[in-house]
Amino acid sequence: MIPICRPELPPLERYVELLRDIWDLHMLSNFGKYARLFEQRAQAQLGTPRVRAVASCDIGLVIALAALDLPAGGEAIVPSFTFNSTINAIVWNRLTPVFADIDPWRLTLDPAEVERLTGPGTAVVVGTHVFGNPCDHDAIRAAAGPGIPVVYDAAHAFGTRYRGRAAGTLGDAEVFSFSGTKLVTSAEGGLVAVTRDDLVTRIEYLRAYGFQTDYESHVVGINGKISELNAALGALTIETLQEGDLIGWSWLFPPYTTAFDARSLEDTHTLVFDGACLRAKCDLDPALGYGLLKLFAGLVVQRLQNARFQLLDVYGTVAGS
Ligand SMILES: Cc1ncc(COP(=O)(O)O)c(C=O)c1O
Repeated sequence: MIPICRPELPPLERYVELLRDIWDLHMLSNFGKYARLFEQRAQAQLGTPRVRAVASCDIGLVIALAALDLPAGGEAIVPSFTFNSTINAIVWNRLTPVFADIDPWRLTLDPAEVERLTGPGTAVVVGTHVFGNPCDHDAIRAAAGPGIPVVYDAAHAFGTRYRGRAAGTLGDAEVFSFSGTKLVTSAEGGLVAVTRDDLVTRIEYLRAYGFQTDYESHVVGINGKISELNAALGALTIETLQEGDLIGWSWLFPPYTTAFDARSLEDTHTLVFDGACLRAKCDLDPALGYGLLKLFAGLVVQRLQNARFQLLDVYGTVAGS
């Protein structure tokens, strides 16, 4: 079996050093030294201070939408090709998903669909950067119109750039996954990146049961805390990726990336292994790599309709479906 994506793990002995430190500190959670370090390294990588660590991308999406304080029953335009978490977050926030088609080449939310589906009931647009491939943010932002926030499920997109801008600095809020199935991992964990200071504060309350000062609270929060063990692994992973011999990294396992490498989208930059590294990691002929990608793309397209119908099954028939 060829995995779609495999986590890049730092050297074990470096993680063990951090575990020893955590044992000495006796602080395992509640945003200690390593949660802060994880955030600082992510902030440096993304070029924004407005990044906060959470327990997972799933919970981060719930929190990001809650931070926007959207009207209950409002419509959330969302691609029909995405992971359950994107939709779960919408439904947990008492919004109504309105399914939109994707651009078949990018595999991300089609801006023309956003324009078609946006109406008086629209509360938010939630796109997904698929396999590290960013949404066409400028077109989506314009299609959504003024006053409608744009949020991205950026689970696969830590390190992705769009027109020179890092994913995490595009939408009002973007949420990364550092789960064990992701290339950049903390075993379990996530990051919420936002573009407004007031949202940072709300994210901080929401991820900590709603607590503001001591036990005072004015928002309905949740336990979205990342443990120190996970945060230490995340911080180390970002550090080792930065120091490594990679010029970047790919969200698809190398056999699938060769063609993406060759035919990059004109205005986006999905980070890829450099040629030597790619060859070292995957002893495959590029033509074979391209063949595999075509096969894979075929499977994706085939599964697209299924995914759409599964989601409709679970969430009911909604406008735009
Ligand atoms: C697009 C997308 N969104 C969200 C998630 C959920 O991420 P997490 O496991 O960190 O909650 C995933 C996980 O695979 C995903 O692929």
